[in-house]
Amino acid sequence: MKNIAIVYWSGTGNTKIMAESIKEGAGDSAKLFAAEEFSADMIDDFDAVALGCPSMGAEELESDVFRPLWEELVPKLSGKSVALFGSYGWGDGEWMRLWEEEANEAGIELAHPALIVHETPDQEGMDECRSLGESLSF
Ligand SMILES: Cc1cc2nc3c(=O)[nH]c(=O)nc-3n(C[C@H](O)[C@H](O)[C@H](O)COP(=O)(O)O)c2cc1C
Repeated sequence: MKNIAIVYWSGTGNTKIMAESIKEGAGDSAKLFAAEEFSADMIDDFDAVALGCPSMGAEELESDVFRPLWEELVPKLSGKSVALFGSYGWGDGEWMRLWEEEANEAGIELAHPALIVHETPDQEGMDECRSLGESLSF
């Protein structure tokens, strides 16, 4: 069985709901962490990681906690199953395209297409999150 970490930053709870739904799909052994609770040295214990951050700034990752964590994780993610997710508001998902590009340029192979949800996930959005969690567990 894979050890799965779900690590998210969420200001108003939307990305947190996504993370919780991903955990439901990923199974009991998956562990959920707010970004503040996770550090790059903890990644060695996991085979798969779902990273979640909403669109903040101007189509950017949250800059105080999540971006520094992401930058520390990047060199440690090769060989792991990685998935990206997050919620957005008034944009068109550009922050996620930029984030995926950054991951690709760093040689990180994404195990699942990035999952974005507009504001608070509805039933369909939560189902998509559960599927993402399931796919990480194989
Ligand atoms: C400071 C700030 C900046 C934001 N910038 C963007 C943005 O550039 N593009 C966008 O689509 N939404 C933007 N949003 C909207 C959030 O991405 C959206 O409300 C999202 O659902 C928040 O997720 P959360 O509840 O997990 O924090 C911004 C929100 C805040 C508070």
